[in-house]
Amino acid sequence: MAKTENRAETAAVKKAGCAVIGYGGMGGWHTRHLLESDVGYLCGIYDIDPAKGELARSNGIRSYASEKELLDDPEISVVTIATPNDCHAEIAVRALRAGKNVISEKPVTMNSRELDRVIAVAEETGKLFTVHQNRRWDCDYLMMKEAYHRADFGKIFCVESRIQGSRGVPGDWRSQKAHGGGMIFDWGVHLIDQMFGIIDDRRLLKVGCRCENVTGAETDEGFKLDMIFEGDVVGHIEVGTHHFIQMPRFYLAGTAGSAIIGDWRDRARCLCIKEWTEGEVKPVVTAAGMTKTMAPRAEDTLREFYIERPDPDVHDFYRNFIAATRGEAEQIVTHKQMRRVMRVMESAFMSDRAGSLIPFGE
Ligand SMILES: NC(=O)c1ccc[n+]([C@@H]2O[C@H](COP(=O)([O-])OP(=O)(O)OC[C@H]3O[C@@H](n4cnc5c(N)ncnc54)[C@H](O)[C@@H]3O)[C@@H](O)[C@H]2O)c1
Repeated sequence: MAKTENRAETAAVKKAGCAVIGYGGMGGWHTRHLLESDVGYLCGIYDIDPAKGELARSNGIRSYASEKELLDDPEISVVTIATPNDCHAEIAVRALRAGKNVISEKPVTMNSRELDRVIAVAEETGKLFTVHQNRRWDCDYLMMKEAYHRADFGKIFCVESRIQGSRGVPGDWRSQKAHGGGMIFDWGVHLIDQMFGIIDDRRLLKVGCRCENVTGAETDEGFKLDMIFEGDVVGHIEVGTHHFIQMPRFYLAGTAGSAIIGDWRDRARCLCIKEWTEGEVKPVVTAAGMTKTMAPRAEDTLREFYIERPDPDVHDFYRNFIAATRGEAEQIVTHKQMRRVMRVMESAFMSDRAGSLIPFGE
């Protein structure tokens, strides 16, 4: 039996009918996710490329003949859009107008103007609209959020977040401006959203960004972004695609301690002050000079501990959204948050062009 034909059983447990538009890498992820979901079931997919429709059928998944046929199916309550970035807004508007609740892949749209238009249609139709900010369920992010809120680190003045690969920008639509390519839209959108989730007690005041165009690609191949919050707390984000050795995934610095997460598999290592008085500092001497300022502290003046990896469940994204469509929960990823992340990305591009910091009024 085809995987998408098992509807009677799913209807009994009141799962919501879901469909995915775009059956590429991430569309495949959503379909697999929905086949395991305890709140939604997969009605089928639509992809503009007939070969993808064929692939879906070979995987036991219904492939609708057109977007219209999918949107006309009354069994579908939630539509997930997993196409390249430049078609999110248009498909979202059509799906909302067809009476569907919509999850868009990230970046939600190409710019604030498009986003405002989609939100207006969601308000007009009374349907829900959100973006798939799945990386709010990443362990490394959740550990850094916990570290930021602990008292151990004194006055925290910077949080650094990095993702670095060595394969350049993928040669598909991600390398083309017209399709919304580039790393600010690809990874930046996640890391900016996460930074707001970590530094959630301060207003963002300024944004400064420099994009990397290492090989002369059409889009940014990476970037270095500073989000300057009130109280001079800096959220620093770096994404790079030409790094054969990776810097730590997260680093946090405060006046009384630091925390570091090496990579996705690590727990957070924290090193905080136990005793300020050190006695005589032993300098580090190299052949070319000496330093006391940068010499490591004596080990017995420090306290080391770890923040253990939590056990988040990314199914909570769909659980929340489907509960919200029934009026049983507030949508976790809100329109306000979507607009704010979009405005930071726009300010980042502006800052790169202007070579200066861009004020950010919240
Ligand atoms: N949240 C995440 O973790 C995550 C990860 C990867 C990608 N994404 C996002 O998912 C989206 C898709 O990325 P991908 O890596 O799957 O791309 P992809 O190129 O692998 O797949 C895109 C699919 O969309 C289809 N398509 C294009 N235009 C269409 C249209 N008008 N109607 C129907 N189908 C259409 C293509 O034929 C293709 O099969 C992007 O927005 C991307 O940013 C999110």
